[in-house]
Parts: sequence; C-alpha cells; structure tokens
Amino acid sequence: MRILVIGGGGREHALCWSIAKSPLCNALYCAPGNAGIAEDATCVDIAAEDSEGVIAFCKEKAIEYVVVGPEAPLVLGMVDRLEAAGIAAFGPSATAAQLEGSKGFTKDLCRKYGIPTAAYGRFRDAAAAKAYVREQGAPIVVKADGLAAGKGVTVAMSEAEALAAIDVAMTDAAFGAAGAELVVEAYLEGEEASFFALVDGETALPLVSAQDHKRAYDGDLGPNTGGMGAYSPAPVMTEALTAEVMRSIIEPTVAGLKAEGTPFRGVLYAGLMIDAAGRPQLIEYNVRFGDPECQAILMRLESDLLPVLMATSDGTLSNFDLSWRDDAALSVVMAANGYPGAYEKGTRIGGLREADSAGVKVFHAGTKHGADGTLLANGGRVLGVTALAPSIAQAQARAYAAVDRIDWPQGFCRRDIGWRAVKRGN
Ligand code: AMP
Ligand code: GLY
Repeated sequence: MRILVIGGGGREHALCWSIAKSPLCNALYCAPGNAGIAEDATCVDIAAEDSEGVIAFCKEKAIEYVVVGPEAPLVLGMVDRLEAAGIAAFGPSATAAQLEGSKGFTKDLCRKYGIPTAAYGRFRDAAAAKAYVREQGAPIVVKADGLAAGKGVTVAMSEAEALAAIDVAMTDAAFGAAGAELVVEAYLEGEEASFFALVDGETALPLVSAQDHKRAYDGDLGPNTGGMGAYSPAPVMTEALTAEVMRSIIEPTVAGLKAEGTPFRGVLYAGLMIDAAGRPQLIEYNVRFGDPECQAILMRLESDLLPVLMATSDGTLSNFDLSWRDDAALSVVMAANGYPGAYEKGTRIGGLREADSAGVKVFHAGTKHGADGTLLANGGRVLGVTALAPSIAQAQARAYAAVDRIDWPQGFCRRDIGWRAVKRGN
C-alpha cells in the first residue's frame, strides 16, 4: 500500500517509524515531515493544513491511505475532503473533531450523556462569565472554547486571576476567534492521566496507558508545554480503572456521537483527572495521538499498526486485538532553550548516532538538515529520546544515558521524567 502521513513532529516520526515496519506498506510519504522522519519516509514539502496540496499529491502518487497526525487539519476538515476525493484516511470528520475543536461541544455532550466531568458554564459575554466566576469562587478554570495552541487554559487559584483570564481571552482577544467563547469550569483535584482508544464509529479499542509531563521544568514546575516527556504504562491506570474509564467515559462518548449522527473514527485521547477515591473525570478530549505519549506507546506496540488504523476507517475494529511488549517505554523531550517561550532555531545537534543504541530510539520533533548535512534544531520541541526496558526506572536510566550522549548545548530537558511511577516502585 501507498501511505501518506500528515504532520512533522515527534508523534508523526513515531507513526512513520511504525508504519514503515508494516509488511502492508510499500511506499511511505510524510507531509511535511522532518530530518528524522526522512529516514523512514519520503518527506514532501506540503503544509499539514493544505488540503488541496495534500489531495493533489495523493492523486499524483496514487496514495491509498492517509494518516492525519495533528488536530488542526482534522478540525479544518482534512478527512472529509480526502474522503470526498475518494481517498481513505485515519482521523475524525470535522464535525466529530469538535471534541477537541470546541470545549463547549464536549462539555454539552458530557452533560447530555452523563459523562463525568467538571461542572461548567459556556459564555459568549465577558460580564456573564465574570458573574459566574464571582458566584462560584476560586479555584476555578477558564478555557478558550477553540484551539489555542495549548495556551487557552487558565487554572486560576484566585478570583482575580480568573477575571483577568476572561479579559485576556475576550477583551484582548489573545486567542482570536478561539477565545470568543469561553468554558468556565470547576477545579478538579487529583492525578492526571492520558487515555487513548482507537474508535471506528461504534467500537472502541483501548491502547496501553501513558502519562505525560506538561510543565517545562523538573518537579512539574514552570509554564505549560506541549509535553516534556511521557512513559507507558502509567501505573495509575490500573485494570479496574481502565474498565471504569471505558464504561463511564469512552463508551458513552462513542455511543453519544453515533446517536448525534456524527460518529467518531480515529483515536480518542481523553485527558483524565483521577481523584483521591480513584474516580475518573474527563478534563478534555483530543482527537489525535498525544505527543510525546504516542512515542512511548508505539515503542511498546508489537502488532502491525497500519491495519488497525485502517480498521477505524472501515468499521472493522471489533476484529482486532493488539499485542504489546511487557517492557516499559519512557520518552524524554529535548527542547530548545527558552521553550515554551521564544527560542532560537538552527543550532547544531551532534551525538545522535552515539545515542541511538539498543532499546533506544531518538524520534525527531523539530529538526532539519543544514546545507552541509549537519542536523539542526528547527522547533521548540526538537527530539524525543525514547527507551524501552523491563521497568520504568530502567527505561528512565536508559533514556537519560542516551540524552547524555547528545551534544546540543542550546537544548534542555527535564531530568525527572517518570518520577511518579519510579517513586511508586515501577
Ligand atoms: P487542557 O489544555 O484542557 O489540556 O488543559 C491544560 C491543563 O490544565 C490540564 O492538563 C490540566 O492540568 C489543567 N486543567 C484543565 N482543566 C482543569 C480542571 N477543571 N481542573 C484542574 N486542572 C485543569
Ligand atoms: N502531550 C499532550 C498533548 O499531546 O496534547
């Protein structure tokens, strides 16, 4: 089969690396890809949101299946357009992608189908949102309704902070149209976990658990990022909790969307809060694989990824059962100094050959080759150094040993990825 992957981050590198191993795949392209992806796929210079460019390329190269990595093209209707052009694709329709594209859409779905989530209000008017904040009190969470590149959420510990966040979104329009509507919701306490399930419109197949680290610095301090590292399995997701999440959150979502006439196909990524009593609540949905959770999860996948992705498109997921390695995987993100704020591009990275050893895979998130063939940083998150080992503690040691062989003075990473699991003795 001839396959195209859309995107150019660490998640897409992991997807390409997995799909390239499939006996079903005999040609693999990635748009736009990056320097690491170029080792597994032919990179083509088409932007991930450019659906016309993607469709023209698919016709030219007789592409039979497209795997869409990031949320932006999904929310903009990439899969709808590909399907209208007769090309099968992995990922939800634009309507179903509202699960990520509109927080209010998801909250209303939860309310209608009894899915546990924080109490909330939806607002198009700053005065009404502020009145709600004053009535509920702090801590409270203010969220831009639309896609805001991970910056649209304020967890406000004081009323003043929440009121300011409303002004930033609505009066200053800091997130553009994405912040014209807000969700204001109750603050949830507990431990966060990421939960992934493949969905074919009707059947949901859970993947192994994973947990990421969203804050930039050690000890879960500093600004929020796209994710500074991840590991799988996440010991917090016990078998009983997985069953409970499937029963109370994933299955009613899949059934609810089907009943609404907007069946979900693709991967459902639930951000969960597990309270002290072990009860899961939905924080948010994403409609794509997590990055870097995907890198950790796919390191552990034994089955062929391509046919199960395709099964989400043709409704045959119930025939599948995935097999996974017992080993744990842990991925450390190396980012450019300054990330998630301003950072430099084009700095030289050395030592990758030394780092890429047995049980280690360095996924590229933002790299390109310089004119002389040297590897250059080309983004905020740049590498995902991922290791596989019998325990999370061993995977952690192996990943950091590889990190230490990488020569990139202009980059940094957290040194404590996996700390919760290691502390629990995993
Ligand atoms: P999101 O962009 O929706 O993933 O939110 C970013 C982060 O904000 C989440 O990963 C949580 O750490 C935090 N968060 C979001 N909603 C809540 C909530 N209702 N209570 C506590 N923390 C939250
Ligand atoms: N790692 C968080 C995300 O992919 O949104």
